Amino acid sequence: MKKVRKAVIPVAGMGTRFLPATKSIPKEMLPIVDIPSLHYIVKEAVESGIEQILFITSPYKKSIEDYFDRSFELESRLEKSGKTKQLNMIKDISNLCEFYYVRQGEPLGSGHAVKLAKEFVGNEPFAVMYGDDLMKYEKPILKQLIDVYEKYDCNVIGVQKVRHEDVYKYGIVEYEDINTKKIKGLVEKPSVEDAPSDNAGVGRYIVKPEIFDELDKLQTGVNGEYQFTDAMISLMKKQDFYACEFMGTYYDIGNQFGYLKANIDFALCREDLKKDMKDYLKKIDI
Ligand code: UTP
Repeated sequence: MKKVRKAVIPVAGMGTRFLPATKSIPKEMLPIVDIPSLHYIVKEAVESGIEQILFITSPYKKSIEDYFDRSFELESRLEKSGKTKQLNMIKDISNLCEFYYVRQGEPLGSGHAVKLAKEFVGNEPFAVMYGDDLMKYEKPILKQLIDVYEKYDCNVIGVQKVRHEDVYKYGIVEYEDINTKKIKGLVEKPSVEDAPSDNAGVGRYIVKPEIFDELDKLQTGVNGEYQFTDAMISLMKKQDFYACEFMGTYYDIGNQFGYLKANIDFALCREDLKKDMKDYLKKIDI
């Protein structure tokens, strides 16, 4: 069985739900406290054993490339002013992983974005991580998916239980076997009545390279976009998929409430902010 060494992170979307901020700042670069959310996703990949990361980016997201690159001027200024702690923090970012970039000229959908990774991926299984799905965990979420891949030699979808009334917002999995979590199907944004379960796919996937055959044949789907979910649905007819109901907390930071929740929760985990944040939340308790 081949090891999962590569991750693809599509970050070329328009982020229209976060306008006007995303007019000039990629939504994946919006900070959770003082660290861009994408940094956390890269950290999760690295902690899961990923060696190479490909960002599917766009001409409007140059700041992502700059962030994960060296910054000689800033480094030399920090060095001259003796700010060693900040200097090391900055240097560490570019050393996190091997980074690669492909540009998606037009945001035609997540399926179109992942298809651009074909050359980078070659003939290996790989991870897909969405740039606006943030996780808080003890054991890295992607590592939990890799464990399922290694157990069954299969494709894997990271899932979380969502409120039944919210199923229409997600891709919902249909189980062949609820005990082993073998998946039979996936329904994109079902109505509350038609949802086959309450388990939603939330931005973490392991897929085998045969996904590219399905991406090549992909037609436009929801919103007139090429949806990665549709390519997985086609691959399900030929290969096994299992769900990984991972342990950890998921934040959809592509919407305002999810983003605010992540900021509060991450601040509450920081030694330098925890006490002030708790006191403040108690004070404003309404
Ligand atoms: P989303 O659909 O959540 O992102 O895609 P979006 O299109 O930027 O969001 P809104 O609805 O306009 O606010 C999930 C991930 O896939 C990337 C996005 O950047 C996001 O990280 N994506 C989406 C692409 O890379 N290319 C696309 O064509 C679409």
